[in-house]
Amino acid sequence: MNYELIEVRTEAGKVGVVTLNRPKQLNALNNQLMDELGHALKAFDADAAIGCMIVTGSEKAFAAGADIGAMASYSFADVYKGDYITRNWETIRQVRKPVIAAVSGFALGGGCELAMMCDFIIAADNARFGQPEIKLGIIPGAGGTQRLPRAVGKAKAMDLALTGRMMDAAEAERAGLVSRVVALDKLMDEALGAALQICDYSQLATMAAKESVNRAFESGLSDGVMFERRMFHALFATADQKEGMDAFVNKRKADFRNQ
Ligand code: HXC
Repeated sequence: MNYELIEVRTEAGKVGVVTLNRPKQLNALNNQLMDELGHALKAFDADAAIGCMIVTGSEKAFAAGADIGAMASYSFADVYKGDYITRNWETIRQVRKPVIAAVSGFALGGGCELAMMCDFIIAADNARFGQPEIKLGIIPGAGGTQRLPRAVGKAKAMDLALTGRMMDAAEAERAGLVSRVVALDKLMDEALGAALQICDYSQLATMAAKESVNRAFESGLSDGVMFERRMFHALFATADQKEGMDAFVNKRKADFRNQ
């Protein structure tokens, strides 16, 4: 696939980086961009050399939301039939390896939702998060009303969804939406550092950790704990568990082979 609205690169041969690249529209998300993003992430996911991915935008905008110009004339029938706006938004959830969102600038509407679909968010100090759809006469459409309250609780999620106001990076970190805030010029270093750390571990374990944490949002506590326990048990069938524990016992660095 020829990418026009994203840039794709590999760092250190093992981190797949996707940069959203529609700068004039503040990375407004349209069908083509979401197709390209989904395609790139799935290709990285299928590449055995890649252990982690980063999705990022520009300094001014991670993404300012779904493309309002493209949506403006859609009818209910257009959007309900599913061929517009939402058909390709969930592709990122099919990715089994970890995906980090490195967010600077605006992450609004679908941009905030996209960041929340990643596994965790590292934010620059100029990041702004919000679900301003209410100002357009609509509501979030890619999980904003569901993932935001799970991340920040009902009070803040309601506040953001009903007033359309933005949260700055400090508030987003306090609220639990982002895992770390760093200076803008350190954003990619921080995200890459985290990604490389993840790449050093067994992919079997990082995928199992991702699947298990995600299960916390899909099941009750007993089912989630049982899922985790069985995944934990299963990892004892891997060579990487033997390697990791032997390396610790013998005070050497583990060399995981993803087996
Ligand atoms: C299309 C957009 C856009 C968007 C910005 N632009 N956001 N185009 N869709 N979501 C365009 C502007 O029209 C403008 O184009 C250029 O990007 C620069 O934007 P400005 O507004 O001039 O910049 P600034 O004054 O700095 O304001 C930045 C901003 C503002 C606060 C982010 O652009 C803004 O409020 N954007 C809309 C945010 C929003 O409502 N997002 C939610 C969308 S609905 P020109 O051609 O004039 O230079 C949504 C639903 C998700 O996301 C559903 C998922 C399925």
